[in-house]
Amino acid sequence: MKKRIGILTGGGDCPGLNAVIRGVVKGALLRRHWEVIGIEDGFDGLLSPDKCHPLSLEDVRGILPRGGTILGSTNRGNPFSCPVEKDGKIEIVDKSELVLENIRRLAIDSLVVVGGEGSLKIALELAQKGVCIVGVPKTIDNDLMETDVTFGYNTALETATDALDKLHSTAESHHRVMVMEVMGRYAGWIALESGIAGGADVILMPEIPFDIEAICRAIDARRRQGRRFSIIVVAEGAFPMGGDRVVKESAGAAQPFERLGGIGEYVARKIKNCLDMDTRVTVLGHLQRGGSPSTFDRCLGSRFGIKALELIEMGACGQMACLKGRDIKAAPIARAVRRLKLVDPAGEMVRCAEELGIMVGR
Ligand code: F6P
Repeated sequence: MKKRIGILTGGGDCPGLNAVIRGVVKGALLRRHWEVIGIEDGFDGLLSPDKCHPLSLEDVRGILPRGGTILGSTNRGNPFSCPVEKDGKIEIVDKSELVLENIRRLAIDSLVVVGGEGSLKIALELAQKGVCIVGVPKTIDNDLMETDVTFGYNTALETATDALDKLHSTAESHHRVMVMEVMGRYAGWIALESGIAGGADVILMPEIPFDIEAICRAIDARRRQGRRFSIIVVAEGAFPMGGDRVVKESAGAAQPFERLGGIGEYVARKIKNCLDMDTRVTVLGHLQRGGSPSTFDRCLGSRFGIKALELIEMGACGQMACLKGRDIKAAPIARAVRRLKLVDPAGEMVRCAEELGIMVGR
């Protein structure tokens, strides 16, 4: 019987998702003669069969350079805990049995889940209920274990580095302290790598609680050497020693995870107070998730897509495609989601930053 696989993209979007979808569809249809069902809006699509459609070669034509995902996504949908309104109150309901029934009804034998930590954890729960799931690691945050890099991260880094280059010239002209806040949730990868590439003077990451007085001293030392401007990159999850993260929206029934944001303003205010220098804040926000994927992400996404098919062929359910060095390999999804991959404060990349004269908050 002809194999029929499903594919969904879950969590926040990122550049390269369409490269994975295209890779899966081309590899499945051209060489293997399988059918592919595209599931709209992440796991939500599995709650309504009318959101699941066969994908043809025509559907994936021309999508390689396009950002986002042609399938749609959501970072709220979890079939194991769906908020449902009942008598004016929000109740949490487990709809996973409906998902299993729809997978059976659609005759999907294996499911490719393209997602970050949140979506892959849901995938693991479904796998434990008997669904054959293969994972593809996605996120601009690069915080997934078991893969050297997630796709989407490289493009986000390019965006952040480009923004730093642009901020440099205006910072220098106006003798200002420019603070740029970047994404990354609880990981400092985007801040650290874009900060090194963009020649930042200070990089603040969640992994190293920062000392604001030490930051002021470092900027003042630059000023006394005649460098009257400074560039600070701060990750949204960074926080001061003895202080807390700045949370924009707390986790709740309709919002499964807390939304971070605002630490850039905090840092700028403190620097203005201690040095009386002109400070400005740029929050890069969702620009980091958008745009055409870089060459690296197009290629990585395509390779992950083909690897997902090979894993299905081998019956390697519960495995995830990953990058180790220059090679595409496989690793158990369970190992990829057991904890976040964070920057090592004593690691080579942080030491490199410090040797380059970059202040990392301590
Ligand atoms: O995980 C990707 C990410 O962009 C994080 O860096 C950020 O904290 C979060 O998603 C933002 O989520 P939303 O799109 O819901 O604002």
